[in-house]
Formats: sequence, C-alpha cells, structure tokens
Amino acid sequence: MPTIKYVETDGTVHAVDANSGITAMEAAVKNAVPGIDGDCGGAAACATCHVYVDPDWIEKTGTAAEGLEKSMLDFAEDVRETSRLACQIAITDELDGLILRLPEKQH
Ligand code: FES
Repeated sequence: MPTIKYVETDGTVHAVDANSGITAMEAAVKNAVPGIDGDCGGAAACATCHVYVDPDWIEKTGTAAEGLEKSMLDFAEDVRETSRLACQIAITDELDGLILRLPEKQH
C-alpha cells in the first residue's frame, strides 16, 4: 500500500497509507490531514485540495491537466508550476513515498 506524505508549511509531516485507486484528496480527508478540505468531493470544482507536488515527484504525478484542473487552480492562491488538485492525483503503487506540500491556506 503506497504511503503518501503531506507536509504542512511548518514542516509537520502526515504520512498516510493510501489504497491504490483512490485520490490523494480522498486519502488526506480520510486521515484528517489538516488543510485539505475536498469540499466538492473530488469533482475539480472547489480548489480546496490544492497541493504542491515535491519537485522530485512531478515527473511521476505529471503537472496539472489542461482544462478543468488548470482552470480551477486559477481560483487557488499562490499557484506554482508544481500546483495540483489533490483530487486529480490518482494513487498508484508507483507513487509510494510521494511528497505533497500543503499551501499556506486554501482559498
Ligand atoms: Fe474540489 Fe479537489 S476536491 S477541487
């Protein structure tokens, strides 16, 4: 089972075991990771699951998809090249050890 690490801005790490097939937003919400709300339930319609993919992992996760994900990120604050909506990152065994950094705040 892949482990995903969510890192708060103060450096606090939340290591979560996530089943392959769910999303990084669902894994965070199930494990009460603070700062990921997932208000829209994963429809890429709220941007309350904004995360920064650690640069070492961006090749594996890919950058934000054109269309819905990128347009919704326009509503998030401090968007960077590594910004993703966690609900659009599907967990796979390949992502074991993935590091996602949380933004200062969600919009
Ligand atoms: Fe709403 Fe990801 S949960 S955009």
